[in-house]
Amino acid sequence: MTAERVEPIAGQDERDRPLSNRTRAERWSVAFPFGWDADELVARRNLLRWAVMASGALFAATGVIAGLSFRLERRRGERQAVIAAAAVPPGSVHYFAYPTADDHAILLHLPDAGFVAYSGKCTHLSCAVYWNEARGQLVCPCHEGVFDPRTGEVLAGPPPRPLPQIELSEMGGTIYAEAEVLRGL
Ligand code: FES
Repeated sequence: MTAERVEPIAGQDERDRPLSNRTRAERWSVAFPFGWDADELVARRNLLRWAVMASGALFAATGVIAGLSFRLERRRGERQAVIAAAAVPPGSVHYFAYPTADDHAILLHLPDAGFVAYSGKCTHLSCAVYWNEARGQLVCPCHEGVFDPRTGEVLAGPPPRPLPQIELSEMGGTIYAEAEVLRGL
């Protein structure tokens, strides 16, 4: 069936022409006045543009947040008295809480390296690390993570980072924790 165009009457506006005087295709375009091909092209282009802009914005925001959290979380805690130095003779260990009451920490008095302290939270899945005197190592029992007592570096097992180190000072015979320093982020 071929569509037949009905010419408008002279002097009559095309838009005023009654539907009954129009071809089937013309009636269809009046009911749905959209240029489908062009609209589709524009919509796709716009969608692509918005997707690229949104991805870029998300990427930039993630970078900013990561940068801020890196700077903000490098050091935690305030000065806090830990224990009298004389109470921890060489070769012994003292467990304490730092930088908050919920954070497990370990102070070691190494015979050849003096006082060192670390977070007692394993950097793998946060199990409690303890001093294994027989092995002379800091050990996480959950998955056999092993840390160097001199540096807190990982010696074995799955932990991805060294233990956070706790900076110490000594004044008037007392050991103070100054800050917990996160490493290898
Ligand atoms: S939680 Fe410490 S090794 Fe897995």
